[in-house]
Parts: sequence; structure tokens; C-alpha cells
Amino acid sequence: MTSATSSRPRAAIILAAGQGTRMKSALPKVLHPVAGMALLGHVIAAVRAAGVARIVVVAAPGGDAVRAYAEGAGCAVAVQDRQLGTGHAARAAAPALEGFDGDVVVAFGDSPLTTAQTFARAFDGAAASGLGLVTFRPKGGGAYGRIVLDAQGRFDRIVEYKDASAEERAIDLCNAGILAADAQKLFGWAARLTSDNAQCEYYLTDVPALAKADGAAPALIEVAEEEALGVNSRGELAAAERIMQDRLRAGFMAAGVGLTAPETVYLSHDTVIEPDVTIEPFVVIAAGVTIRGGARIRSHSHLEGCDIASGAIIGPFARLRPGAKIGQDAHIGNFVEVKNTTIEAGAKANHLTYLGDAHVGAKANIGAGTITCNYDGFTKAKTEIGAGAFIGSDTALVAPVTVGAGAITAAGSVITKDVPADALAIARGQQSEKPGWAKAFRTRKQQEKK
Ligand code: UD1
Ligand code: MG
Repeated sequence: MTSATSSRPRAAIILAAGQGTRMKSALPKVLHPVAGMALLGHVIAAVRAAGVARIVVVAAPGGDAVRAYAEGAGCAVAVQDRQLGTGHAARAAAPALEGFDGDVVVAFGDSPLTTAQTFARAFDGAAASGLGLVTFRPKGGGAYGRIVLDAQGRFDRIVEYKDASAEERAIDLCNAGILAADAQKLFGWAARLTSDNAQCEYYLTDVPALAKADGAAPALIEVAEEEALGVNSRGELAAAERIMQDRLRAGFMAAGVGLTAPETVYLSHDTVIEPDVTIEPFVVIAAGVTIRGGARIRSHSHLEGCDIASGAIIGPFARLRPGAKIGQDAHIGNFVEVKNTTIEAGAKANHLTYLGDAHVGAKANIGAGTITCNYDGFTKAKTEIGAGAFIGSDTALVAPVTVGAGAITAAGSVITKDVPADALAIARGQQSEKPGWAKAFRTRKQQEKK
């Protein structure tokens, strides 16, 4: 990740007081997830990776969920009592950064695609000229603030779209909303803002012109349009997800991970995959997954909170739930669900099985239809299956129960007592035959029908 290039301390103000009404959701907008992490979490991670040590999240009054999330992530929270604009919101962070001697970047909590590199460039701009301002050129124009240049092609001011003339609206260079400057100078400029404009708001975007007047000519940093994408609606949330997924896929492929159909594989912000893992089409990887080199994840598998060792084969149609630890060269096949269970090296559970709260020894073989009965409606209990054990098809293992190493359970058994090592356990109804009964039955039924 990008590291700090100037030695001045770095802070960030993340604006998150917006109501997000267009999401039509009980969940605050900045807490909606992209790649399994809240929008706000992405911004926090990106500014940290740009060398930021202190973060102030600006929340609306009553924004308890946002406050809890921000504090949980080690940020301070400032409340903006009324939403009077982005400049007003930045001002609300001033008490939290009182006496802070360093540079601060202002970012938006609903823009999860801004990279650490962009924040680092904004800080570099602040170090070089007094203020770093992030810009972009949106293909479709859009209602963004326009960057007005002077006759010499230097920064003059930002004009908000609603305040802009037709000529200004035709400018293609737009404000991404991110700027960095010395913290105390920024608060000084923000204190001088007025709300004398079309929206009667205190615009943060008037700060660069004030900086310029003070001799801090803004350094313009241009980034790709996607970095400036703000999420205001479900559609934009889905667009952000698409872009984030593409970034994650591209990153893993560049690092040596094989994705047969990358556009069908869904990853999480914290996914760890080593080189030479192959992932077949239509795999969903939720939070907390690590996959070691040489493992293969076959189609239509769903993985969450699990560790997969090298050489293991998962799926097709496998479900690994939190606490699943799959050993080297182990196989987990179709319609097998594994939860809070360790499968040691070389063990196999290839078909139609539930393994919950269990430990499966090395090279054990779990037959089709095996179920660990781990829950009695009140508490969970453990199943221990020894190394090299052979669990016959359709065995129900009523936990707590232990099957010793090398033991065999007969198909269809309901195992309620521990099975010693190398023993055979049979726990099923006895079979009896009635010779000729079926034929006699058919004859009788056919006669009844006549
Ligand atoms: C802002 C910029 C615009 C830029 C655009 C880029 C201003 C005045 N305009 O416009 O130049 O092109 O972003 O997307 O800054 N917020 C608060 N409190 C407030 C107002 C806003 O916390 O009182 C937060 C919002 O939750 C949001 C962010 O600040 O996260 C930006 O506010 P928004 O209203 O979306 O600004 P834009 O009109 O998009
Ligand atoms: Mg906006």
C-alpha cells in the first residue's frame, strides 16, 4: 500500500451526515456494504493506507449506528447538528482536531472507490502547494462542481453546478470532492465561508479559492471517474460493487490466482487467496476466507469464514460456513455443508453431508448422507471422527459422540454411543426376508382390480 511521503502527521475528516434518503433503507447509507464492508469502512481503510493516523467521522444527530461503526473502527465522531453543506460539515470536525499540527484530507463517506493512492496524492499536493484538490472528467458531464481555470490555465475557483452559467457547465474538469491542506489553515478558511449561493449552503468547494487568495495555489490531482463515484441509490451501490469486484478479481489474477470466469466470482474485501488457486465459475466468497496455493474451488460453492489448505478440492455446490478448516488435499464435494469443523489432511466428504461442530481425522472417509446431529434445540455438541475412520452412507452421528480411528460405521446407522478404534458399529434395524411375498402381493392386487 501507499505510504506517507511527507513526514507531517496526517488526519482525515470523513463526511457522513447525509441522510441517504434515496437508498430507501433503515440502514444509514454509509453502512451499506460493498464487497462485504461498509462504504464508510472502505474510506477509513483507504485514508489509513495513505498514512492517516487520526480520523474524524462527521455524523448527523441521532446517527447512532454510524457513530458505533466509526468508534468501533477507531475513529472520533463529530456531530453536525444541521446539514448546512459540506463546508459546514468540515467545520464540525474542528474541535476534534484542535491543536492538530499536520495535514488533513476531507473525504466523503459514501465514496468507497477512492484509492489510498489518490488520498496520498492529495496530501502530496498539500505539501507541495498548500492545498491538494482531486478532480476528474466525467464522461456524461453530470451535476458536479466545475473547476474554473484562469487565462494562464491555473486554478481559479470551483463553481457548483447549480450556481454555474451555461459556459461554466460546459467545463469538463470537475471536482471529486476531496481536498487536503494544513488542518488549522483549512479550518481557518472554512470559518470564512458564507452561504451566499444557489443552495444557501456553506460549500467546502469555496475553500480552494480562499486558499489561492492566501498564496496556497491548489495543486490539481486528476483521477479516473470511477474513483469519484458516490453512492446515493441502490443502483449506484450495485455499480460500486461491480467496480470493486472487478478490482479484486484483477488483483488476484495479477497475483497468480486462476479465475476461469472472473465476472461470476464474488470476493470480499478481506479475502486471502494464494497463487495457483483455481476458482471455477459461479463461486461466492463471503467475509473471512483464506485459500492456500493449489486448492481448487469448483463451481457454485459458497464460502464464508473458512480456511482451505493447499491441494484441497471444494465443490461443486459445497457450502463452507464459519469455522470450517479444510486440510491439505481434503475433498468436500457436492451438497456438503461444513460448519465449525476441522477436516484433517486427505479426508473426504464427497456427497450430501452435514458436518457441524466436528473434528474429522486425517484420511477419514465420510459416506454420502452422513449427518452430525450436533444440536438438540438448546446446545451444540461435538462429534469426533478418528483418522482413517470410514463412516458408512446415511450415518447419523448423535453428538456428543466419538468414532475411533480406523473404525467403520455401517450404512444407515444411528450412532449414539462412542465407537472404539478399529471396531465396526452397526446401529440399524435387522433385515428379514419373506420369500415370494412380493409376487403373491402383486397377484392378489391384480385380482382385486378385475
Ligand atoms: C459535492 C461538491 C461538488 C462535487 C461533488 C462530487 C460541495 C458543495 N460540492 O457536491 O463540487 O462535484 O460533491 O461528488 O461540496 N454532507 C454532510 N453534511 C452536509 C452536506 C453534505 O455530511 O451538510 C456529506 C454528504 O453526506 C456526502 C458529502 O458530504 O457524503 C457530499 O455531499 P453532497 O450533498 O453529496 O454534495 P454534492 O452536491 O454531491
Ligand atoms: Mg454527492
